[in-house]
Amino acid sequence: MHKRIFLNTLAVAVLGAGVATGALAQDKFKIGLILPMSGQQASTGRQIEAAVRLFMAQNGDTVAGKKVEVIIKDDAATPDVSRRFAQELVVNEKVNVLAGFGVTPAALAAAPIATQSKTPLVVMAAATSSITEASPYIVRTSFTLPQASVALADWAPKNGLKKVVTLVSDYGPGIDAEKFFKDRLLFNGGQIADSLRVPLRNPDFAPFLQKVRDIKPDALFVFVPSGAGAAVMKQFLERGMDKAGIKLIGTGDVTDDDQLNDMGDGALGVVTSHHYSAYHPSATNKKFVDAFQKANKGMRPNFMAVGGYDGMRVIYEALKATKGQGGGDALLAAMKGQIFESPRGPMFIDAQTRDVVHNIYLRKVERKDGQLHNVEFDVIKDVKDPGKAK
Ligand code: PHB
Repeated sequence: MHKRIFLNTLAVAVLGAGVATGALAQDKFKIGLILPMSGQQASTGRQIEAAVRLFMAQNGDTVAGKKVEVIIKDDAATPDVSRRFAQELVVNEKVNVLAGFGVTPAALAAAPIATQSKTPLVVMAAATSSITEASPYIVRTSFTLPQASVALADWAPKNGLKKVVTLVSDYGPGIDAEKFFKDRLLFNGGQIADSLRVPLRNPDFAPFLQKVRDIKPDALFVFVPSGAGAAVMKQFLERGMDKAGIKLIGTGDVTDDDQLNDMGDGALGVVTSHHYSAYHPSATNKKFVDAFQKANKGMRPNFMAVGGYDGMRVIYEALKATKGQGGGDALLAAMKGQIFESPRGPMFIDAQTRDVVHNIYLRKVERKDGQLHNVEFDVIKDVKDPGKAK
């Protein structure tokens, strides 16, 4: 009891504001969920919120004697806003855990708040390799772009795609995708004919795709964040680039399950590498997809939903392991090294890096039961983030 009040007071003192928490707050366990519920990345917020609600409906809202309360804040993927909400959630709401973070800049902006207040921060969506290095209190349940990109750079040259142009959104995850794809492709004897970067905000892909058409590589490798894939696909097809013999490949963000079924037959045959497909053939995943769709008017869960669902599991398990008595450091320690079966397959939180270790699958878009799906045809097991190697 004394220790608990001391810890809370310390957290408040560090942030320089607020009043010590009352007795009632101690019966609650608060999760501050910062998500883009509006703006360009709104589909990520919608998917993660649905997954968090499903997890709580399935696992209850009382854990280790604490009533779990989720407070959602819409940051519209704007880092200044993410940071302000993180601060308010810690100081005013006294949240036990921060979670969510739809884009890399949002996670990086909140990282110092997690460090100063010793609050675990669970990244459920953002995927630049370096994020986990921004604070020792960050744990990640999404994925990293180096994990996804390297697998495809091994597959491409073995399958006749030697000359490749890369096209990525011009910020953290895109730059990771470009670098790790390029380095591995060159290592494998391939060639990068050009590396193109498109702005993150309101991108117009047309001039970039025209350039790719003129270069006429074997393949175009694409990373754009979840929600932007359909626009790339549409413009790629409108320009007849597939008919000109250019193969579209990318990380699974491009054939995002949130949008894939509306992309049309032009998407058939697109090969991507990623950690999650709604079509992943395991009993755990089938149960997850069925329950998710039932609770959300048929919406198909994408990789963002799985990052949110698994993030909640990591938080719940930490709360159980610390018997509801843990402060930030104890919760963090209980998050490290967790191992379980996710809808994506086996998953592990590396205790050293606090980053996710999981399988990366090669998938091809196919029509199955009348719907477009990312159908897995190969797997690289237990992939650690290659970005942590150096
Ligand atoms: C990110 O900003 O880190 C991010 C966002 C969406 C993705 C992947 C990465 O699909």
